[in-house]
Amino acid sequence: MITSNVFGSLADDQPVYQYSLTNARGTQVDILTLGGIVRRWLVPGDTATDKATDNVTDIVLGFDTVEAYLEDQAYVGAVVGRYANRIARGKFTLQGTPYQVDVNQGGNCLHGGQDGFNRRLWQATILDGGDEPQLALSLISPDGDQGFPGELTAKVIYTLNAQNGLKIEYFAQSTSATVFNPTQHSYFNLEGHQSGPVTQHQVQIFASRFTPTDENAIPTGELASVTDTPFDLRELVTLATPLAATHPQLTIGNGFDHNWCVDAYQPNMPQPTLVAKAVEPKSGRTLTVYSTMPGIQLYTANYLSAHPLGKEQTAYGANHALCLETQCYPAAPNQEHFPSAELPAGEAYYSVTEYRVTG
Ligand code: BGC
Repeated sequence: MITSNVFGSLADDQPVYQYSLTNARGTQVDILTLGGIVRRWLVPGDTATDKATDNVTDIVLGFDTVEAYLEDQAYVGAVVGRYANRIARGKFTLQGTPYQVDVNQGGNCLHGGQDGFNRRLWQATILDGGDEPQLALSLISPDGDQGFPGELTAKVIYTLNAQNGLKIEYFAQSTSATVFNPTQHSYFNLEGHQSGPVTQHQVQIFASRFTPTDENAIPTGELASVTDTPFDLRELVTLATPLAATHPQLTIGNGFDHNWCVDAYQPNMPQPTLVAKAVEPKSGRTLTVYSTMPGIQLYTANYLSAHPLGKEQTAYGANHALCLETQCYPAAPNQEHFPSAELPAGEAYYSVTEYRVTG
């Protein structure tokens, strides 16, 4: 089922709509036309008491007003584009042409520049209003948008499937060669968005290497082994342990804010592969991430602040959530040995990531 309502409006009075997707298992995901934002993700409890009391847990952070989303600098819940993560000094060269894109954070381009996809109004179309609801969001990003070449027609399809997965499919096409690296920036707290630190969550990432960064969060180019470091998350690890470890990369990131290189990644994979997992031990709730993307950023919300206040007047703080952002490696346009983020003119872009919740 899909229902919709007006969530608020922009300064120029354009309405922002909220679409509520509910599957046959009673999970509900609310999505905004602003930024393709996943605003609420309500998971019903599975005990008899939960069922009798309609007990649901909202497992993502979010805000209650459009104004709060426009103030937010943490990309809470949004679709990120054109280029998730950082491009050093906003510079890259494509087919011999140098480009300068918007520099909006620490001298680098972060998440596509100041006016990224997270701040755009997307056009919504209901593709399926049934038991596995499906919503399409479309956007035209003009040639030169934030400095990126080519007019890019982008579409994101959200499907809430019978496995309790939110499948996110990304489609795009550009009129000239460009780089494209979209992601979804949900902040998960599997105990509930107002539950405080996620340090007792267990996390697993199926990756033997990660991309260490310099002080500016730009990859040095090294594909470092995780062995014998706090970055070894190949088995489930309680976040508190590595976060308390001493490691220069954890100091630089103020916690985890790094990209891991997905072991099972192959270019043009037909099916998404298992990339990561998070488990909240009290509820046993598990989030499993599948993707066709080469990298995944684990961000432990190191810089999250209480402003603006979150849903239900919640003051979010550092480590109150974790993000598992599937992506190309950061700064890939400047590192030839990283999997390419280039999108040739006229070529159809497709990638898919699914976040599946059980328990
Ligand atoms: C980045 C962080 C950044 C956060 C919010 C994450 O994807 O890796 O460095 O602070 O997004 O913008």
